[in-house]
Amino acid sequence: MNIQALLNEKVSAALVAAGAPEGSPAAVRQSAKPQFGDYQANGVMGVAKKLGTNPREFAAKVIEVLDLDGIAAKTEIAGPGFINIFLSEAFLAQQAEIALADSRLGVAAEQAQTIVTDYSAPNVAKEMAVHHIRSTVIGDAVTRTLEFLGHKVIRANHIGDWGTQFGMLIANLERVQQESGEVSMELSDLEAFYRDSKKLYDSDEAFAERARGYVVKLQSGDEFCTEMWKKLVDVTMIQNQRNYDRLSVSLTNDDVMGESMYNDMLPKIVADLKEQGLAVEDDGAQVVFLEEFKNKDGEAMGVIIQKRDGGFLYTTTDIACAKYRYEQLGADRVLYFIDSRQHQHLTQAWTIVRKAGYIPESVSLEHHAFGMMLGKDGKPFKTRTGGSVKLKDLLDEAEERAAKLIESKNPDLDPEEKAKIANTVAMAAVKYADLSKHRTTDYVFDWDNMLAFEGNTAPYMQYAYTRVASIFAKAGLDADNLDGAIVVTEEKEKALVSKLLQFEEAVQSVAREGQPHIMCSYLFELAGNFSSFYEACPILSSEGETRQSRLKLAALTAKTIKQGLSLLGINTLERM
Ligand code: ARG
Repeated sequence: MNIQALLNEKVSAALVAAGAPEGSPAAVRQSAKPQFGDYQANGVMGVAKKLGTNPREFAAKVIEVLDLDGIAAKTEIAGPGFINIFLSEAFLAQQAEIALADSRLGVAAEQAQTIVTDYSAPNVAKEMAVHHIRSTVIGDAVTRTLEFLGHKVIRANHIGDWGTQFGMLIANLERVQQESGEVSMELSDLEAFYRDSKKLYDSDEAFAERARGYVVKLQSGDEFCTEMWKKLVDVTMIQNQRNYDRLSVSLTNDDVMGESMYNDMLPKIVADLKEQGLAVEDDGAQVVFLEEFKNKDGEAMGVIIQKRDGGFLYTTTDIACAKYRYEQLGADRVLYFIDSRQHQHLTQAWTIVRKAGYIPESVSLEHHAFGMMLGKDGKPFKTRTGGSVKLKDLLDEAEERAAKLIESKNPDLDPEEKAKIANTVAMAAVKYADLSKHRTTDYVFDWDNMLAFEGNTAPYMQYAYTRVASIFAKAGLDADNLDGAIVVTEEKEKALVSKLLQFEEAVQSVAREGQPHIMCSYLFELAGNFSSFYEACPILSSEGETRQSRLKLAALTAKTIKQGLSLLGINTLERM
């Protein structure tokens, strides 16, 4: 159950009963400190100001009519008119039982929407570089969270599979094929292949001529060019899939909806925008002038949707793509997980989409932007020679480092298990480091931090899980089959249960805001609450009802951490 929402409802009703206008916000929040209760209603002051009454007096009136029977043990007025709400121990125990008995941990499904998540989106004939990890793991975590809440989520991997560069790539692939007979699906070094293609294009006029011809042929659906193009896409995606699989990212080949998919829509869109008077010819190109954006002279900014030579642009494709997601996929919400540098590009495309009436206002188009990945020196994360770091190499290094770490911590494990633990910790560390930061800020990539067993890191969270899980192994008990009832008496028990019951609030916030770090912080706090509880309230050495109750709290903690990490795409281990 979402207790925050429940309290919001109750306090809102009380506000109205005390004389506030209908719909006055109760503004119930989780309290920052236990002495302020479990939740705090902050809405009284605003309402009192509007009514012209004394806020503390008004708060007293609200409390008088506030019906929290069976929910709160006490309420009190604090400071200028906050209402602190202390949940009752019986209510906490009852809700914890419900959560423990439920495979969804008491989290209600939301009214189902169709939601498209646009993430990862690497480019064809290039290897995924480290910066792709941000979109990939953040988008995947939000996707999993939305699915958990019961939404129909359509993953859209908007790969860069179109553009004039395919002329030179096809010409080079043809050359390689002629020289070596068959091209294996490996084409192991895509980067080198791309570089060679470019070199030939710049230095060999006959090659460049052929390449330009192939661009035109590809665009008109020529069979040979299409086949070669397809090969390039396939080879790239086979390699990308390896990264996805290693990282337990839920994308598959079925989720690919690349730029090329929208080609057929583009001429019609340009024609329609012209007809609507939105696009005008300017110096031979088709341009939409947007008052909402100003160029450096303070004039309406011109967005080119078709070049003078007839070619379409990235923006044209994104206009078509948004339209398609609404019309064909039936999206209620579209979430784009893209680098913040593309913000202007996206908002321009969407401004055009809205002006043209392609998508109603009720459908939300959301840019969930993120900052850059920086090295420890605060500069963009690069190899020593200044090149971009391949994602694959980064993952290899993570595995090596984790293997050393596990070796030093746990030298006696058998090699197979050691390797499994190292791999699980490594992938989790790389993902979690990214997920746990507020995504809009640039983030500093730091091996030592991400592999630390202290702080808000993957190893810490994974270890917290194994620690709780090991209680059951030690006692020879099945965490899914515990007798007895949850009884909340001790302060640390209360704090733990209160935090456990905020799981749903964390899940819903991630879904609403597209910010997985909310879940990371929640889990980190939960693990902290569990540690304090564990120290203050012995479990296995206690007896009778108390022991059973505490075992149940440990079981709910383990399940919550595991579920939370799984929504983030982070795997857990029973032993490490
Ligand atoms: N391929 C693009 C890039 O690497 C990202 C595409 C994001 N999605 C979109 N609908 N524009 O920058």
